Amino acid sequence: MLEAVYNKKYTRKYSPHRFSVAPMLDWTDRHCRYFHRLLSSHALLYTEMVTTGAILHGNQQRHLQFNPAEHPLALQLGGSDPADLALCAKIGADFGYDEINLNVGCPSDRVQNGRFGACLMAQPELVADCVAEMRQAVQIPVTVKSRIGIDDMDSYQELTNFIAQVAAAGCETFIVHARKAWLSGLSPKQNRDIPPLRYDVVQQLKQDFPQLAIVINGGILTLEAAQELLQELDGVMLGREIYHNPYLLAQVDAQIFNAAGPLKSRHEIVLALQPYIEQQLQVGERLNSITRHMLGLFHGVDGARLWRRHLSENANKKGADQRVLMQALEFIA
Ligand SMILES: Cc1cc2nc3c(=O)[nH]c(=O)nc-3n(C[C@H](O)[C@H](O)[C@H](O)COP(=O)(O)O)c2cc1C
Repeated sequence: MLEAVYNKKYTRKYSPHRFSVAPMLDWTDRHCRYFHRLLSSHALLYTEMVTTGAILHGNQQRHLQFNPAEHPLALQLGGSDPADLALCAKIGADFGYDEINLNVGCPSDRVQNGRFGACLMAQPELVADCVAEMRQAVQIPVTVKSRIGIDDMDSYQELTNFIAQVAAAGCETFIVHARKAWLSGLSPKQNRDIPPLRYDVVQQLKQDFPQLAIVINGGILTLEAAQELLQELDGVMLGREIYHNPYLLAQVDAQIFNAAGPLKSRHEIVLALQPYIEQQLQVGERLNSITRHMLGLFHGVDGARLWRRHLSENANKKGADQRVLMQALEFIA
């Protein structure tokens, strides 16, 4: 379905997973995604992880609403109860998401206590049940984002056992963060840096499961590195580098999707965001909730430090509006 929607919209030969921006809690909220979408029409975007509890017992509109411009867009769910996940997948599909992704990679304590995230790698049967029920509930693809292992459960055989069981339940696309997670002893932040990256393991997975779409994630910093990985793998997912240096996304359509179109300048992106900001301020959003995602836009450009500082110090003030953004722009050479 995502392929169909995507191909209809862009008439592309590439998989929508060829380049994606990672789900990042507190970072890839709807404002961030709207901004990222101005930089790339083709990259697949992911929401932050939303738990089944938040959807079933919280404010659904607040957790799930998005702007139609954000397509193609995947909803990442956190949970481990098959029936709850199926219900949330259905709710997500009804909201109009293009894909439902299950988080089997997050190592935080809070997530472990809820018995989901990376600890689910130890329960492939349960993940398979979750995927099977979600697949039954929706027409859109159900995908899984995992690690290559957890704790001492990190043999290649255990990983392939996990993938095989979950694939048999109907998951055709796996996004694999190419490092294991230590569930005790390391913080989530440390778990994103300390366990060594093992791209070779993910590449081996693609060899052993050629029928699956395998997307690699973790530590990819340039489009050249992405291109190289794309020689063997179906997709790359970038997280922190895009967040801190979002202008990298502006080259993705041309370089990764081979799509024609002029490269937008950083200034053009800021100006293109104006109508959105105006509309969001009118409905009571604070300027900072949008501009906080833009601090890295001028990364590497003269004046970038002053741009960041002006926004950080002023966008949070009561009544801050577009003028703060325009003043920040004046610091750029
Ligand atoms: C602030 C932050 C929040 C994150 N939140 C999530 C999340 O909600 N779900 C998830 O699957 N991964 C989450 N991650 C992990 C990223 O999706 C990604 O797997 C990780 O950062 C490695 O990719 P990178 O090296 O390109 O950043 C988060 C990472 C960061 C930095």
